[in-house]
Amino acid sequence: MITFTINGQEVQGQDGWTILEVARWHGIDIPTLCHYEAVEPYGACRLCVVEVDDGKRSRVVISCMYPIRSGIQVKTDSPRVANVRRWIVQLLLDESPGAPKIQELAKAFRVTPSRFKKEGVEFACHLCGLCIRACQEVVGVQALTFGNRGVLKEVTAPYHQRSTDCIRCGTCLYVCPTGAMEQLFPQVSAP
Ligand code: SF4
Ligand code: FES
Repeated sequence: MITFTINGQEVQGQDGWTILEVARWHGIDIPTLCHYEAVEPYGACRLCVVEVDDGKRSRVVISCMYPIRSGIQVKTDSPRVANVRRWIVQLLLDESPGAPKIQELAKAFRVTPSRFKKEGVEFACHLCGLCIRACQEVVGVQALTFGNRGVLKEVTAPYHQRSTDCIRCGTCLYVCPTGAMEQLFPQVSAP
C-alpha cells in the first residue's frame, strides 16, 4: 500500500492506482467529465485537476491519470486548482450551454456564459473520447474513432463511412457527457 495525504488527510491506495481512484475510494470529491470507471482514462477534459506537492515542487496535474506516490501531498480544492477548474468550466459552458451536466458544473462553480459563447450551439463535442473508449472497451466494437487532426479533429466512424460494425446498443449515447452524440449518431451508424 502507498500512503500519502489528500487535503491533509492521510490516505492509502494500491500501487498503480491514480489520485482520482484513491480520492473516490476515500469519498473525496473531484469533478470529472471524461472519466468513466469502466474504461481507461484518457485525460481529455482536465476538469479533474489537483495540486500535487512532492517535496521539491508543487504542480497542477490531472488526477485521473496521475499515479500515486508515497509521501505526496495532494490538494483537491486549493485556490490554484479552483482557478484552473473555473476556466475549464467556462470553456465547457461557452461551447455546450445546453448540456445538463455542464450546466450543473457551471452552477457549482458559479460560472455564467461569457462573451465568447458560441451562438447557435447547445451540445458541442468536446472530443473527450468517452464514446470511442466505451464502444471499444465495453462493447468490444470499433464503430467509432477520431478522424482528422488539429482543429478538424472529430468523432467519426472508421474511414468516415457509416459503420456496419455498430450494433446500435446506445452505449455511446449513454456515456456522452454533453449530448453531442445524439447529433453524431445518425452520421456514424449504418441503419
Ligand atoms: S461525442 Fe460525446 S462522448 Fe464522444 S467525444 Fe464528443 S463529447 Fe465525448
Ligand atoms: S476526468 Fe481527468 S482529464 Fe477528464
